Amino acid sequence: MHILTDVSLKHYSTMRLGGLAKALVEVSTKEELSEAIEWADKHAMPLLMLGGGSNVIFSDGFNGLVIVNRLNGYEVIAEDTKSATIKIGAGEPWDHIVKQTVQAGLSGIEKLSLIPGTAGATPVQNVGAYGAEIAEVLLELEVYDLKTHNFAILHKDDCQFSYRSSIFKSPKNRRYIITSITLRLSKRPPEPPFYDNLQYYLDKHQITTYTPQTIRDAVIAVRTSRLPDPELTPNTGSFFKNPVISVDHFNNLYQQYPTMAHWPTKDGHIKVAAGWLIEQAGLKGYQAHGMKIYEKHALVLVNDSAKSYADLATFRQEIIEKVKADFGIILEQEPELI
Ligand code: EPU
Repeated sequence: MHILTDVSLKHYSTMRLGGLAKALVEVSTKEELSEAIEWADKHAMPLLMLGGGSNVIFSDGFNGLVIVNRLNGYEVIAEDTKSATIKIGAGEPWDHIVKQTVQAGLSGIEKLSLIPGTAGATPVQNVGAYGAEIAEVLLELEVYDLKTHNFAILHKDDCQFSYRSSIFKSPKNRRYIITSITLRLSKRPPEPPFYDNLQYYLDKHQITTYTPQTIRDAVIAVRTSRLPDPELTPNTGSFFKNPVISVDHFNNLYQQYPTMAHWPTKDGHIKVAAGWLIEQAGLKGYQAHGMKIYEKHALVLVNDSAKSYADLATFRQEIIEKVKADFGIILEQEPELI
């Protein structure tokens, strides 16, 4: 185990912003993870677990030990005629896993293709795209419990999954470090109906055979046409959650804006597209403080040349205020703020 000191967190967040971490270590086995936690305890340092850094924003440095998860592994632990159960190391790059399951002919995560980050980060914000969510296929996960100082198994029902949220997301509840996830994937091909813009792509390219591979290819094409690659353009994907508003509030707005993108929620509210709100507020392509709203998708904030978190925070506030003034809706940040 090699502990580094005073490491710039810039290189560990795809937004490429962040101060110094007092200490940082990359762990690739459970033993190394236990050692790193003991080391932090001995030095009375707080802990922060990081995956690919594609869904975190650092407000500053971190006065503790950052553990970068490199725990790997891909193992089929059960299989029958209908499904396969796969245990995946939390540090595995997520899209490598999607590719592997798709090549094995398994369905369940193909719509989550090309999402940046690690496998172990997917349950934290209940990653979702094109109508699929990780919670739908997750059976259980293995964690290190910082309260009991033991490894433990959590079942899906223990995780309180909802839209872009889980028990792992709450800063108060940073009790668990995810070390592996177990998914149950189907041997049946994916079935329509598909999410609008995916269906549009399939129709346009006359794709009528739905396999995990054809759906993965379609998702990759749709994503790359609209979302910037974080390796090349610093960003953290959707910067805001799609806000959920009351039916009354929605009806008032809808009379004025009949093109407003929206979906009803299961609990009788209306979810509206934050990207639509930002675009209609006239902010698509807006640049200030070294930050920019991506021209092809208004929900993505790009770091062009921001110098610090303060630049991002000022920019974020301008967007929140403009959308609030125009629509009476307060946008909430989606990536975790640390
Ligand atoms: N829209 C606009 N202007 C824009 C962007 C979007 O009008 O600049 C409209 C679209 O035309 C569409 C609606 O907003 O009618 C929704 O847009 P899109 O289908 O792109 O999806 P989204 O709601 O903006 C969500 C996820 C994405 C995920 C996509 C695809 C959230 C916060 N984001 O975005 O997730 O890839 O659906 O399913 O739920 C991420 O979390 O980082 C992420 C990229």
